[in-house]
Amino acid sequence: MEEIFARRMQHVRASEIREILKVTERPDFISLAGGLPAPELFPVTEIAEAARRCFAEDGAAALQYSTTEGYAPLRAAIARRLPETTGARPGADEILITTGSQQGLDLVGKVFLDEGDVVLCESPTYLGGLQAFRVFGPRFVEVETDDEGMIPASLERCLEAEPRAKLLYAIPDFQNPAGRTWSLARREAVLAIVERHRMAVIEDCPYGELRFSGSPLPSLMALAGPGQVLQLGTFSKILCPGLRVAWIAANRAMIEKLVLVKQAADLHSPSLNQRLVSRLLETYDLAAGIERMRDLYRRRCGAMLAALEGEFPEGATWTRPEGGLFVWVTLPEGVSARDLLTRAIGVQVAFVPGGAFFPNGGHENTLRLNFSIMTPERIAEGVRRLGALLVPAPL
Ligand SMILES: Cc1ncc(COP(=O)(O)O)c(C=O)c1O
Repeated sequence: MEEIFARRMQHVRASEIREILKVTERPDFISLAGGLPAPELFPVTEIAEAARRCFAEDGAAALQYSTTEGYAPLRAAIARRLPETTGARPGADEILITTGSQQGLDLVGKVFLDEGDVVLCESPTYLGGLQAFRVFGPRFVEVETDDEGMIPASLERCLEAEPRAKLLYAIPDFQNPAGRTWSLARREAVLAIVERHRMAVIEDCPYGELRFSGSPLPSLMALAGPGQVLQLGTFSKILCPGLRVAWIAANRAMIEKLVLVKQAADLHSPSLNQRLVSRLLETYDLAAGIERMRDLYRRRCGAMLAALEGEFPEGATWTRPEGGLFVWVTLPEGVSARDLLTRAIGVQVAFVPGGAFFPNGGHENTLRLNFSIMTPERIAEGVRRLGALLVPAPL
C-alpha cells in the first residue's frame, strides 16, 4: 500500500505539537504546550457585528468566488498599516491574502524550493515552517542563535559550506519557539551577508505587534532593499486565528508567482472572512485590542518567569521574552525533555519538548513553554509541578 503514496510523503511527519494537544484538551490539564492566543480577548461581539454588516451591505457578493490576490480594500488596509507596524512599505498590489501564514509558508515552498535545495534557518525554528517546507524535500542548514538572534559568523560559516543556499527563513521578533528577538545590529549584519549572497529572506512576523517590553525594531523588510525580503503577516495572533486571514508582502515578481500557486491551491481565501476583517478594520480599534493583549501577555509571561526562578533547579536556563507567546528552557545536559513530558502528563501538565524544533535533531534537553492561554495561577502551578519532577527526591 505504501507504494501508492508520493515519494515526498516520506519527508512528512505528524506534528508533535498537534499530537500533544490531543491529550491536553481536557479542561483540568495545565497546557503550556500550544500556541493559542487568549480567547477572552477575541472581539466576538465586534466580529459578529462586522459579519452582520457584510451580509447587509454586500449580500451575495460576500459569498461569491473572488480574486486570488484577495479583497482589494483589505489589501489596501494592510498596506496602510504595515509602515506603522513593521516599517515595511509595500503597495497594495504587493500584498497577497493567504489562508493563514501557514498557507503562505506552503506557497513559498512551492515557488522557491526544488528537492535538495538548501534552506537556512534559525536553530531552533518554527516547527510548522519545517513541516511546510519539508514536503518539497529541501535540506535544512541550521544557523546558530543566541539571545540577540541569528549569529552572523555562524551564517557566514553555513554559507561557506553551502554557497548555493536559496532561502533564509527567519522569525526575528519573539521567535517561535525561543521567544528571542534579533537586535538591530544583528538584523543589519545578517541582511548585509544575505545581500552579498543573493538569497531571498522569508521573514515570518506573526508576533511582531505583541511586544510587551523594550522598544520596537524595524523588520528585515523595512531595512532591506526591495526584492530581498518577503514578509509573512497574519491576523491570527492580533485578532483571532479561526478566520484564517493572513498575507504575504513581497515584490510584484514574487507575488505573481505566488498567485499562480495559490490559485491551484484554493482559488482564493474565503471571501466572507476577508470582507469581515476589512469591515472590522474600519470600525474596531484594533490597536486598543492589541494593547489589551500586550497587557495580558506581559502579566502571564511575568508569572512564568517568576515561577521558573522559584521552582526550576540550578543548571536550568531560560529566555526572557520581550513579547510573543513563548519561553524557551534549556535543562542541564543529559536531561531528556521527552522523558520529562511523559512524567508531566502524569501530573496533568503539558509542554513541547524542544528537539522537534531542530530540523537535524539533537537538543533533547530543551523545551518550549507557552504563557498566553493559562491564567497566572495555572502557569505558576504548572511550572511548580514541572520543577518538582526535575528536582531529585531526597534520599
Ligand atoms: C512563526 C509562525 N509562523 C506562522 C504561523 C502560522 O500562523 P497562521 O495562524 O497565520 O497560519 C505560526 C503560528 O503559530 C507561527 O508561530
